[in-house]
Amino acid sequence: MTEIEKNRLKELRDQLNFHAYRYYVLDDPLISDGEYDKLFQELLKLEKKYPEHVTADSPSQRVGGIPLSEFETVEHTVPMLSLDNAFNEDDLREFEKRLQRFLKTDNPITYAAEPKLDGLAVELVYKQGVMTLGSTRGDGKNGENITSNLKTIASIPLKLREDTKFETPEQLEVRGEVYLSLDGFNALNEQQMRDEKNIFANPRNAAAGSLRQLDSKITAQRPLDFFVYGISDTSQIPCDTQSELLEYLQGLGFKVNKLGRVCKNVDEIIRLYDELNSMRPELPYEIDGMVIKVDSFNLQRRLGNTARSPRWSIAWKFPASQVTTRLNDVEFQVGRTGVVTPVALLEPVTVGGVTVSRATLHNEDMINSKDLRVGDVVLIQRAGDVIPEVIKPITSERTGNEVKIVMLKECPACGVLLVREDKKGANSAGKSQKEAATRCQNKNCPAQRLQGLIYFTSKAGMDIEGLGKKVIEQLFDADLVKDIPDIYTLTKQDLEVLDGWAELSAQNAIDAIESSKNTTMERFLRSLGIPLVGEEVSSLLENHFGSLERLTESAEATTPDDIETERCELLQIDGIGGKIASELVSFFQNIEKRDMLSKLLQQGFIFNKAPSLSEDKPLSGLVFLFTGGLEDFSRDEAKTRVKELGGHVASAISKKVTHVVAGEKPGNKLKKAQELGLIILSEQDFKTILAGENNRNNVEQLSLF
Ligand code: IVH
Repeated sequence: MTEIEKNRLKELRDQLNFHAYRYYVLDDPLISDGEYDKLFQELLKLEKKYPEHVTADSPSQRVGGIPLSEFETVEHTVPMLSLDNAFNEDDLREFEKRLQRFLKTDNPITYAAEPKLDGLAVELVYKQGVMTLGSTRGDGKNGENITSNLKTIASIPLKLREDTKFETPEQLEVRGEVYLSLDGFNALNEQQMRDEKNIFANPRNAAAGSLRQLDSKITAQRPLDFFVYGISDTSQIPCDTQSELLEYLQGLGFKVNKLGRVCKNVDEIIRLYDELNSMRPELPYEIDGMVIKVDSFNLQRRLGNTARSPRWSIAWKFPASQVTTRLNDVEFQVGRTGVVTPVALLEPVTVGGVTVSRATLHNEDMINSKDLRVGDVVLIQRAGDVIPEVIKPITSERTGNEVKIVMLKECPACGVLLVREDKKGANSAGKSQKEAATRCQNKNCPAQRLQGLIYFTSKAGMDIEGLGKKVIEQLFDADLVKDIPDIYTLTKQDLEVLDGWAELSAQNAIDAIESSKNTTMERFLRSLGIPLVGEEVSSLLENHFGSLERLTESAEATTPDDIETERCELLQIDGIGGKIASELVSFFQNIEKRDMLSKLLQQGFIFNKAPSLSEDKPLSGLVFLFTGGLEDFSRDEAKTRVKELGGHVASAISKKVTHVVAGEKPGNKLKKAQELGLIILSEQDFKTILAGENNRNNVEQLSLF
């Protein structure tokens, strides 16, 4: 290759990238399509001659490469969390109060508010300014490598633009939403129709289907687009706020949604919400709400995250789409915890782009208060991913032939009498109130067992590939799997003779079952389907007890009285209250459950340590107790900071406590701590520990006093 050709190749790449940016990101092209095409053809010709000089940032790479056989898994360096939802002004004001309480301030907080695009979250990794990896959100921790598909999206820069003010970052992980415009969606569906292929229900599904194509040439034909809204790690960039970040990302060549705005208080957010909601029908793409973020990164860092979502952000959803249809019948579903839920079977109807034929009726009180009848025309609603629900009957449409819906008296699966338990405590009139849920209390109810099995292998549980709902139902009906341990005694021979199975699929399922034994205590626990024990609680239990044996011992030794008087180990764990403790105790003290568990554990599980348990965190192994008021922290923030640094927080004095932080007007606990000779820190000492570059050193030095 001559020097001239080499220079020309670079010039063509740069020019084409620049013009694509003008066209797709700024929507302000400087040259005609024809001129662009000419440059592109010239590039292709040169690259064909010198294939070894095709670079990752060449516009030719957008057209798609060799089809893949499957997507690789990629681990996100920082988890991609989800967001909490607000549905009305009160929720939003409550959100602000929560922030203020946490930060211990009355000052208004400044927010960055953005439209919430209804597409798919993706992460793009740029190394030395060049896009090297693109992935889906996946389960938040691990996504799928869809780099070549993402490269086909013209508004995604293959190379970062050189910012005039700042150096190109060494590594940048940007996050944003891939979506399809409504025009793009309609055009795609027309094409699908012409090709006699499936029609997509809504733009989001179409975008998802397009991104998950193994052949990126197909993705390249789909008119996908991308808006950026954040990055994985805000500490490494020259910005102090979300609004500055968006400007910075725009400078690097990304498309930023223009409808976002900085809001100085909640009232300004509400005004923007109303504005966006009224603009919604005219927008060229679908939005399903707005995302509100604390603008300051400093405050964001102080607020931190829960297991599921950042404390500093909330999604405020627009009202859901509603339509009317006929309620044809009612079915009663038994869930894995025995709750019997009435489900309306509807005349199929499209709402928010999705066909709905079932909707939840929640519980008996709901049926009665709405006076729903089979045969009614009903108003139904679907909000985002939420299960559709029946709002009310249209009584003016009644003919008199409708039949009142009554709750079942007996379990539809096992025939045992259903009950509504009394709520704990009595109301003011001294009359007992009932729980909303109607339950089948038969712990051996086949429907409950089946649902428990489905949950155990599902993505939310042990995530065993190939053992989805349909397969579990098949195995259950064939009497091959009646209870959880039976899954682990299945053989290839059991499976391959069943309908729809073959040698390979049977082997794959057996392999997936085998490899699920290599897990964490957290995942195992949450898979058991103990009511109220999901990911977050399981993680607290793992961190506190460290082993299943220790947890079992503790739960077995706990009496109802211990829970009532808060004198049990379970209630020492911050985040675990009386209800959860009772559920744990009743699970671990139930003979059948214990039997099941010991059978299951005989299968040889390996419990790996969750990474959050890593021993080298600055405060690992230390237990803090707070007494009295702190000046610059709310209790919540103080506790969270300790936990972030690997420490534990106790709520009562015991020998396990290693450090007591005494604030203003400390209580009796300080006296007890002094008597026990525990280390006592002032708020200033505590701050020194938190601020220290090397927190452990600070702790050790302060501990000398
Ligand atoms: S920020 C920690 N900003 O909404 C989560 N998300 O449940 C940070 N989304 O999966 C997300 N528009 O796909 C953020 N302007 C926006 C967004 C947005 C849409 C999606 C995103 C995420 C989901 C949150």
